[in-house]
Amino acid sequence: MVTIVTGGHFGDEGKGKIVSYLALKDKPDIVARAGVGPNAGHTVYKDGKEFGLRMVPCGFVNESSRLMIGAGVLVNPEVFLEEVDMTGIKDRIFLDKRCAIIEEKHRTEDTSNSFLKEKVGTTGSGCGPANAERANRTVKLAKDIPELEPYLADVPLEVNSAIDAGKEVLLEASQGFGLSLFYGTYPFVTSKDTSASMAAVDIGIGPTKVDKVMVIYKAYTTRVGEGALDTLITEENIDSYPMWKEVLQDAKKKGIDEGTVNETLAEYLGEKGTVTQRRRRIGDFDIELAKYAAMVNGATDIVIACLDKIFPECFKVTEYDKLSDRAKDHVKKIESGIGIKASLISTGPDAMDTIDLREK
Ligand code: IMP
Ligand code: MG
Repeated sequence: MVTIVTGGHFGDEGKGKIVSYLALKDKPDIVARAGVGPNAGHTVYKDGKEFGLRMVPCGFVNESSRLMIGAGVLVNPEVFLEEVDMTGIKDRIFLDKRCAIIEEKHRTEDTSNSFLKEKVGTTGSGCGPANAERANRTVKLAKDIPELEPYLADVPLEVNSAIDAGKEVLLEASQGFGLSLFYGTYPFVTSKDTSASMAAVDIGIGPTKVDKVMVIYKAYTTRVGEGALDTLITEENIDSYPMWKEVLQDAKKKGIDEGTVNETLAEYLGEKGTVTQRRRRIGDFDIELAKYAAMVNGATDIVIACLDKIFPECFKVTEYDKLSDRAKDHVKKIESGIGIKASLISTGPDAMDTIDLREK
């Protein structure tokens, strides 16, 4: 079985946590990282320890999985080597010899070019300039970097052989649909498409090999960096959202009441970028974008993450029936809007804080 996990909004939907659950539960033979590169930040917990990962697949939490980074993914060798060391996975991680390399000059360009830095609000990780150079055919590849030599592999050969042998393969994409270079809110987007088909290309498998496409949404929509967030919650519109009024009251009860309504909500919900530490903007669940993302991704499954953040009474609940009525209503609204039932619902940061509704 081949499953692709991808983001349905603007990234930060909780893919890291969901991938870590799927890795522990389904014990895939291979977990492969697709997506743009180290602009992504995934938060994963293993043995009570928090990891902010930018290169290593979140599925590292399952110790029997072999880990791969596909040729489509940009590699920052320093970040890669540091994370390999931190996670202790030296003997089971491989990267494709054709991965393109991010160099210092790409990061400098990403942080000094005022269009990229201020208008687009990039993560500054050098991904856009490296992908531009890749398109210009002048970028360095992983096989040109001696320090990466021990990790080099032919990822498509590895993954397709595992598929042919009937093994379980999990592909984790990064970013989210609204950030797609092709389908997102151009020019406020990342430097590549971010849909499931691109994830298959990144790893080197054909569309006929994919069994499941799981599109992840957070229970509300957030966005970091510039670009429109159509469902943004503000002073002016919060009164028309009873749910958000309650969340704001909960924040104030906790003594959080700083700046604008949106800033207070972000502080209360802990919405801060993993890579850049920038505050994320908070929006109501964007159903239109969610539906469109499910269509272009060819979603077979949807996942709703962070339900506990807006409904704290659901923290760590692992059975659907034990969710509060208002939380169930929220889930149903999302399911009927998209037209697909949720397969997984996340109720906390630990991998096992998950309601699994998949058919056994
Ligand atoms: P870049 O990908 O660093 O070029 O940034 C382009 C846009 O995508 C900016 O708005 C970033 O904030 C956003 N972005 C890139 N990666 C992520 C991610 O992993 N999560 C959320 N936003 C991201
Ligand atoms: Mg993130």
